[in-house]
Amino acid sequence: MAEEFIVTPWEVKGRVDYEKLISIFGTQPITRDLLRKIEDLAGELHVLLRRGVFFSHRDLDLTLRDYEDGKGFFLYTGRGPSGPMHIGHLIPFIFTRWLQDKFNVNVYIMITDDEKYLDEPNMSLGEARRWAYENTLDIIAVGFNPDKTFIFHDTEYIGKLYPMAIKVAKKINFNTVKAVFGFTGSTNIGLLFFPSLQIIPTFFEKKRCLIPAAIDQDPYWRIQRDIAESLGYYKTTAIHSKFMPPLTGLDGKMSSSKPETAIFLHDDPKTVRFKIMKYAFSGGQPTVELHRKLGGNPDIDVSFQWLKIYFEPDDSKLKKIEEDYRSGRMLTGELKEYLIEKINNFLEEHRVRREQAKELINLYKYDGELARRMWREGPWNIEELNS
Ligand code: TYM
Repeated sequence: MAEEFIVTPWEVKGRVDYEKLISIFGTQPITRDLLRKIEDLAGELHVLLRRGVFFSHRDLDLTLRDYEDGKGFFLYTGRGPSGPMHIGHLIPFIFTRWLQDKFNVNVYIMITDDEKYLDEPNMSLGEARRWAYENTLDIIAVGFNPDKTFIFHDTEYIGKLYPMAIKVAKKINFNTVKAVFGFTGSTNIGLLFFPSLQIIPTFFEKKRCLIPAAIDQDPYWRIQRDIAESLGYYKTTAIHSKFMPPLTGLDGKMSSSKPETAIFLHDDPKTVRFKIMKYAFSGGQPTVELHRKLGGNPDIDVSFQWLKIYFEPDDSKLKKIEEDYRSGRMLTGELKEYLIEKINNFLEEHRVRREQAKELINLYKYDGELARRMWREGPWNIEELNS
């Protein structure tokens, strides 16, 4: 019998059955035809698409049609700065950057320091804002086009957002957010209002918006799709990823609040080695002899799954590892060593780009072409906003 699982913007529990989630959430699977279409338009398929990490969508076909028709589209994604980022958090950003490269479109990145202040009982506003800055460096390190990317922190940009926020808020009642997010009578009123903010960037342009994010964020997009047309905008489209699984096994998601489940972007090579050696759930046999005889199970082995999700993009190398591990030629220790090297190389390059980001941050927040326009003119035509 399938295990129970929970997926909400606040928690992911149990072994997620992604096919079932598609039917529970009412989204659409990414079909072979859709993959072929993306490949035709982009010239290649990103590894996260090839490996099925991005597995579900809402109206992605319409967005691609708009692109083909010359109407264009724009991208929106975000981060709630609750603390340091782990490698799972980077997945949607890496993919968003790829889409920006391939389709040459604007990207809006919302950093919800307000949300995290409201949501985390022990976080001061100063801490939330400091994490907003730190996380922004990690996001810039991914390499977005500075003239077509606007990164904004809610508590700074709220003046421009607020008029639209109240228009959105007026369309959403308490019963809806209660049903969608599980809010109760003791939820603080900041959090009750917050969904109207997370929806707003989907209205930054009069084009279709495409949101790459893990599927936990989808409940926001469901509400957006209910109200967008009544405000004169398109229903947003979305492309959903699975979760980077925790080191400790395939249940739930990699989570900052459980450090043994995650590799953080700041983890040094020794820490990465220690965590993977100690915690990475293995599909291997208890002894070398048994492993050589019976082989390992890559389907439940977290090290193998991480290689498959992102860290070994070469399909033929991945296939060889899978065969060697299954047959017992490759031992768990060897598989872990391989992953450790891949992750440490990735993190080393990331940290170099993160240092450079300190010089670039103003470009993304204030001075780049798109950022300047968003501060000077704002996202909306005043007459339309007032109507
Ligand atoms: P946050 O900070 O929880 O997550 C940031 C992004 O990372 C995704 N994510 C993961 N992806 C793969 N594996 C994981 N283990 C994993 N954990 C988290 C999330 O789906 C998200 O895409 N409220 C939002 C901030 C936000 C936002 C947005 C996110 C504002 N606007 C638009 C996405 C799109 C939040 O707290 O995300």
